[in-house]
Amino acid sequence: MFDAIQAARADAILGLMDAFRNDANPDKVNLTVGVYKDETGGTPVLKSVKVAEAKLLEGESSKGYLPIGGLGEFCDLTQDLYFGNGHEVVSSGRAATFQTPGGTGALRVAADFIHQNFPTASIWCSTPTWPNHPKVFTAAGVNVEHYPYFAADSHGVNIEGMLDAIKAAPVGDVICLHACCHNPTGADPSAEQWGQIADAVYARGLLPFLDFAYLGFGDGIDSDRSALIEFARPGAELLVASSYSKNFGLYRERVGALTVVTADAASAKTVASQVKATIRTNYSNPPSHGASIVREILVDQVLRQQWDGELSEMRERINGMRKLFTQTMAERLPDRDFSFIERQRGMFSYSGLTADQVDTLRQKFSIYIVRDGRINVAGINPGNVGPLCDAMSSVLGAG
Ligand code: LMR
Repeated sequence: MFDAIQAARADAILGLMDAFRNDANPDKVNLTVGVYKDETGGTPVLKSVKVAEAKLLEGESSKGYLPIGGLGEFCDLTQDLYFGNGHEVVSSGRAATFQTPGGTGALRVAADFIHQNFPTASIWCSTPTWPNHPKVFTAAGVNVEHYPYFAADSHGVNIEGMLDAIKAAPVGDVICLHACCHNPTGADPSAEQWGQIADAVYARGLLPFLDFAYLGFGDGIDSDRSALIEFARPGAELLVASSYSKNFGLYRERVGALTVVTADAASAKTVASQVKATIRTNYSNPPSHGASIVREILVDQVLRQQWDGELSEMRERINGMRKLFTQTMAERLPDRDFSFIERQRGMFSYSGLTADQVDTLRQKFSIYIVRDGRINVAGINPGNVGPLCDAMSSVLGAG
């Protein structure tokens, strides 16, 4: 039976990890997968995580199963972190949170839930979006549609195109929105535009589904959650997929959460029972380690402060690299304007490079970039920015 099976295409992002690993060039540069890197190009374990892990090792008394929805305390702390302490959505009991294996696990559980409970609903994804969004939703049997998002000329958000698409989408559909640090473009709506988007989404009767993988990587925790707060209006319903991969550096521990906000506490209980049924047939219950680390850090004032500092450090380094890259490109190609890189937020920017230019960078210079032109700004450091900008300007100059 297996002889008839054809090879799948390599993943657009994770597939490049192997190619990079096998490249023998000592000066190779990796700007592909969304993983934070420090000045030396490494992805160290956060110090706060190391302390929390030591405490866990000491204090853990059982390896018994977690509940289907995960660690209760982790779920409560997730609600506080994302909505802010004392938010009505939390105090009213109309939010139900489930610990999931990473943000992708949350997306898949939500997609299964949507397919089972709203079988005719489509999910609308931004153009462009993270390439795994449509794949995860399609794999769960949900039809995927697309709304315009990126304005190539301004390197910002095409707000008119987006609002027009929202106003024309079928009532009862779901719209997937990136809560901050849009992946792949780095272009986020302004606070005022988020208000317009939420008005349009609710006026049209769509269910907002916020993918929130980069809290803390934009401008800081408070300001990064402003889109979510905009959507958490009195009585409003929404879904939130969140991830601790980036902000706690817990990539391989697979720790994330799905939060469902319903109109009232009674409805939250009913919906929770359905989400749990979905989880049970998917992975039964989540793994403990990553979520226990997050719990340990968020309940301990000292550790939490340390983590806050480490998160700020990561964000500030990336923003510093945005500045340095923009300045260096301005020296190399003074006629071209790269200031949009400095305005964009999060790990990614849409460089504007074509797939052919990306291929040339890989083949000639061992510089690895996702073929849609997305660069992981965290992969830039003072040591590689010069050769990177030389190579990019030679490729762009030739184009
Ligand atoms: C990315 O976009 O590079 C990250 O979210 C990692 C992934 O799973 O694709």
